[in-house]
Amino acid sequence: MPALDAERVVELAAKSLFDVFNHTAMGTMVVDRSHRIVWISDGYKRFLPALGHAEADFVGQRVEEVVPNTLMGQVVDSGKPILVDLLTNQAGTFLVSRLPLKNDAGEVIGAVGYVLLDHPETTMQPLLAKFGRLQGELDAARREIAQARRPKHSLAGFIGSSAAALEVKRLARRVALTASPVLLLGETGTGKELLAHGIHAASRRAGRAIVSVNIAAVPDTLLEAEFFGVAPGAYTGAERAGREGKFKLADGGTLFLDEIGDMPLALQAKLLRALQEQEIEPLGSNKVERVDVRVIAATSRDLPAMVAEGTFRADLYYRLNVLPIHLPPLRERIEDLEALVDALGDDIARRSGMASKSLTPDALDLLAAQPWPGNIRELRNVLEQATLMTDDVQLGAPHFAAALRLAAQGEEAQVVSARTAAPLAAPPVERLRPLAEQVSEVEDAAIAAALEATGGNRVAAAKLLRMSRAALYAKLARRPQRITVTR
Ligand SMILES: Nc1ncnc2c1ncn2[C@@H]1O[C@H](COP(=O)(O)OP(=O)(O)OP(=O)(O)O)[C@@H](O)[C@H]1O
Ligand SMILES: [Mg+2]
Repeated sequence: MPALDAERVVELAAKSLFDVFNHTAMGTMVVDRSHRIVWISDGYKRFLPALGHAEADFVGQRVEEVVPNTLMGQVVDSGKPILVDLLTNQAGTFLVSRLPLKNDAGEVIGAVGYVLLDHPETTMQPLLAKFGRLQGELDAARREIAQARRPKHSLAGFIGSSAAALEVKRLARRVALTASPVLLLGETGTGKELLAHGIHAASRRAGRAIVSVNIAAVPDTLLEAEFFGVAPGAYTGAERAGREGKFKLADGGTLFLDEIGDMPLALQAKLLRALQEQEIEPLGSNKVERVDVRVIAATSRDLPAMVAEGTFRADLYYRLNVLPIHLPPLRERIEDLEALVDALGDDIARRSGMASKSLTPDALDLLAAQPWPGNIRELRNVLEQATLMTDDVQLGAPHFAAALRLAAQGEEAQVVSARTAAPLAAPPVERLRPLAEQVSEVEDAAIAAALEATGGNRVAAAKLLRMSRAALYAKLARRPQRITVTR
């Protein structure tokens, strides 16, 4: 038998491969140089109804006009195959393969596309599930990186260009250059903690740690050890090895004393000494240790009034009050509202993975007319609720009317939830966590119990909890993963 020449073998291989694919693939399509569909296999025809076309108005069309999300055109233009890909459109999800077709001169004359599997979601379920999970992890990692990069902890992250905000930033930059204690005064949610981080970041201590103590969150009896540490052997048991205090941990850096107005009188004298001498004495030790710590203190309480009534030491107050910065409430710098809404909105979008939403002028007017007792923290919450409650990309006054009503209703709902929850019998140390965190746990438990009782019926659950359905939906949207109904 005469040997077939190599060219003929290749030709036959190409032809039989084409035939084999045609028979085993669910569908085949060929397009020409100008992306026009020139031929489809009988198998392919079954997809036409779902794509919304008859054969007559399909063949002859440019492929991108009749097959959403196709990459056939890209294969033609680049001359590069896409061996395996998932294509999703209204007809379903398909495992596809796309190869360029070339003439003898090697020029691309079109492309052939195969639908290898038309229900990859069933046959390839494990693979797709893994892909979905990895994609989710990737998105989360990307969000985290974006978040770490944002200037939250620099003075640039303190948004506002009103005279009052600019003055705050000017003072912050000035005090950053000194080593003296700084006192941040202002209502709740005005950005004291944010500013403390900004001052640290702008100071020569930026390379070292900023260590925070929330004085209101630590029981009085533990505060001394928290501040100054415990010498080894001072106690038996867990503390035998000793423990470093926050002053020591902040050595070379900044110590942020939050809620300084809650400092017990007995400890105020020791704090004053540590501030003046830059020396600390761990509990159970008779040796003093030198530390180099810049203190930034913050409070929303009226320290002069506390001095007057004898609950805050005058000498400590004067020592801390060398460089006071007053943070204005939001209602006194309402001209910053729009910039704040933009910045907070971007942040909310980044964290939730949703697109940023814009506000209509009447929404901005409505927000500008609010008293904002919770200041920027409250503004953030309201924005977050309005954003999550709707799919609309633009937020108008009605969206906020609901969120603002919710803010007012929020307290009411929390009281109801607390009443329906089991009595709080946890040991006291369990309670020494942020109140908001505890309240939201009680809320979650109450909502889960109500959903359980109503078999997952949200309308009925909202009635049981005596809250509006919108309020319940908002809460579910905010923490979907934490509220789980077990059956
Ligand atoms: N000027 C600002 N620009 C951008 N975000 C701000 C600004 N001020 C406050 N925020 C944001 O508002 C929230 C509350 O701010 P922060 O925790 O600093 O307030 P605070 O004064 O420490 O409140 P509290 O007295 O209740 O502890 C944070 O999410 C913070 O990032
Ligand atoms: Mg604070």
